[in-house]
Amino acid sequence: MLNETVAGLLNTQVNKEFYSAYLYLDFANFYEDEGLKGFANWYRVQAQEERDHAMLMIQYLQNNDCKVVLESIDKPNIELNQKMDPLKQGYAHEQYVTSLIHNIYAAAYEVKDFRTMQFLDWFVKEQGEEETNASDLIKKMELFGDDAKSLYMLDSELGGRVYAAPSLVL
Ligand SMILES: [Fe+2]
Repeated sequence: MLNETVAGLLNTQVNKEFYSAYLYLDFANFYEDEGLKGFANWYRVQAQEERDHAMLMIQYLQNNDCKVVLESIDKPNIELNQKMDPLKQGYAHEQYVTSLIHNIYAAAYEVKDFRTMQFLDWFVKEQGEEETNASDLIKKMELFGDDAKSLYMLDSELGGRVYAAPSLVL
């Protein structure tokens, strides 16, 4: 059995990860409407990864005999107008998620819950990659977004992203 605070934070994080999936699906829908199917694909894959994160946390809780409580998922309430909006909002969101993961890690550290710390190591690293990816997308859009041909090529590049199952196995 896990420490109550740590288990509670992980359970809350399940909801946050599903919210992330929901948010990125909203971004994908925005880009579909804009005719940028590559960007839409990129965020659909991202949404799948977020669902994986939630599922990994559920499995970890269950492996430790903790009951999982699913709460309602908030509506994505971010206003999207410009092509850059999802990219900037996505970056800010990933920075926020990083802070959440670090909070759980700190709580586990506090009670010497080494098992949860080890579990979360993967997520700490993953968040680093998510922030880099999000920031790279912004830079690319800043460089190429205003030129139609370049935007077409960037959209094609993002259309090539393929979903892969998470490298973490429990
Ligand atoms: Fe995530």
